[in-house]
Amino acid sequence: MRCDPSVKVGALTLKNPVLTASGTFGYGLEFEPYFDISALGAICTKGLSLLPRIGNAPPRICETASGMLNAIGLANIGVEAFCTDKLPSLRERNVTVVANIFATSIEDFAALARRLDREQGIAAIEVNISCPNVDKGGLEFGVDPQMAAAVTSAVKKVTKLPVWVKLSPEAGRIAVIARACEEAGADALCAINTIRGLAIDVQTWKPRLSNRTGGLSGPALKPIAIRMVWEVAKAVKVPVIGIGGVTCAEDAIEFMLAGATAVQVGSANFRDPLAAHKIAQGIVDYCERRAIDPRELIGKALL
Ligand SMILES: Cc1cc2nc3c(=O)[nH]c(=O)nc-3n(C[C@H](O)[C@H](O)[C@H](O)COP(=O)(O)O)c2cc1C
Repeated sequence: MRCDPSVKVGALTLKNPVLTASGTFGYGLEFEPYFDISALGAICTKGLSLLPRIGNAPPRICETASGMLNAIGLANIGVEAFCTDKLPSLRERNVTVVANIFATSIEDFAALARRLDREQGIAAIEVNISCPNVDKGGLEFGVDPQMAAAVTSAVKKVTKLPVWVKLSPEAGRIAVIARACEEAGADALCAINTIRGLAIDVQTWKPRLSNRTGGLSGPALKPIAIRMVWEVAKAVKVPVIGIGGVTCAEDAIEFMLAGATAVQVGSANFRDPLAAHKIAQGIVDYCERRAIDPRELIGKALL
């Protein structure tokens, strides 16, 4: 049987349940030489801010056991350059684009959403309230239910686009934040962003990243992320998108069985630019072998 790999995230239908995670896939176009990026469920852009940012000083990534630390500091071209220089090409190629946004105040989150709302070719806005690598505006929105709800409703008020909120594993009780965002109007919840770590060079006795701490991503994060997806999926009615250490189709299927409607592939893109493409195909193969649709996997491990 040929399976239909499409999934619905609220009102939005995605071609398949595999997206690329913000910050690990540039603005999408960089991966064009490798495969047809319009075949992905969606691409999530690098976090966009109102003004361009240069981010933290290097070194800003380092490899660790089963993962990596990054403290990029949200370097990006800014929302205006994204809308004029990148979005037209993505639109022309029919790529499903999720615009990931970051700001240091509720007003700026709203201003970003208002700006993106004027554009054609954006499928959803992903609100990053969970970046651990900036001095201001990162985690403080993501660990406090009132702040998380305030950002969500401010963004919802100014856009017709679906609003996804990206949660932090550093929130003590992620389900409480998830519920607060859902009540404030979030159309989907994305779990999780990176978790803070520290690596030290034993030759120089100095932290390996200039920012000292960095966000841990990759396979080391996966069991934590799956546990959190499960907790969030039990707590809310809106769809959950799983993120954290997805490197193969089986990882993605594990997230779906825990309650995720779709997954995002992050650090795996650095090792293999075709990772997301192969994972989407692997899910189809798995489902065809069992004569099921991917939608039938969602939440099945935890009934
Ligand atoms: C180098 C790098 C940059 C990232 N930049 C962003 C970002 O701008 N916005 C965001 O919401 N998440 C960002 N993330 C987090 C990822 O989107 C993802 O949540 C995290 O890496 C976990 O997924 P993974 O284990 O598959 O990498 C970044 C991650 C990495 C490794």
